[in-house]
Amino acid sequence: MTPFDRLSPSYDELLRDPIRERFTGHESAFFHRRKADLIRRFFRRQRQASSSLRYLDVGCGKGELLQLLQSDFKETAGCDVSSGMMKEISGIETRVQEDRLQIPFGDAEFDLVTAVCVYHHVPPPRRAALTREVTRVVRPGGIFCMIEHNPFNPVTRLIVSRTPVDADAILLPAAEARQLTAYAGLASLEQDYFLYFPQTIYRYLGPMEALLSKVPLGGQYALFSGKHR
Ligand SMILES: C[S@@+](CC[C@H](N)C(=O)[O-])C[C@H]1O[C@@H](n2cnc3c(N)ncnc32)[C@H](O)[C@@H]1O
Repeated sequence: MTPFDRLSPSYDELLRDPIRERFTGHESAFFHRRKADLIRRFFRRQRQASSSLRYLDVGCGKGELLQLLQSDFKETAGCDVSSGMMKEISGIETRVQEDRLQIPFGDAEFDLVTAVCVYHHVPPPRRAALTREVTRVVRPGGIFCMIEHNPFNPVTRLIVSRTPVDADAILLPAAEARQLTAYAGLASLEQDYFLYFPQTIYRYLGPMEALLSKVPLGGQYALFSGKHR
């Protein structure tokens, strides 16, 4: 049984935090929607239609991002070390990762692979091996997108320090994420910081966040890397 199998029955309850809720209102959907939008915007900027692409979310948890992006891609799949986290996902292929460092899919099967808030739960000495394994399932010319908490944002650090789900978390700065992907042979394409404003303010000032995307202070960051053809 993995730590997330134990946490999964009360996962949403364990994430509740007054500071976090000041940011999102009473639902985490805001966080997932922002990530889905970042991924859509990336493909728009690359002038690449995602509708013919195959997408895998590694460490997909309860599958919220997969559900949001399912209709954007030709095929969508998820995997996670915790079967408990994935048990309510329906209508999307999911596979349990029996080994933390082995992704249960074949070589070069996916055009896009994401790992969202997974790496801070992976002990630092194992992160390079996980990144090599992620790279294995990306097709040449495909994309790996890592989204992580930004340790330079004090509110992020405070929320992580109070959240039981993050008891084992060791946050990684974007520089470490870039180093991991570079060691795995991927080329950095784009890095965006986001989650500067709470949902209530984002509604009005959303476009301003795009202007801040290169300032390394947002609550989280997304690193898009490409696999050489
Ligand atoms: C904080 S949750 C994030 C879930 C989801 N990605 C999201 O953003 O809501 C972290 C997830 O990563 C999974 N996980 C941890 N280590 C992993 C690994 N080595 N490979 C795949 N999944 C892993 C956990 O089981 C858990 O479901």
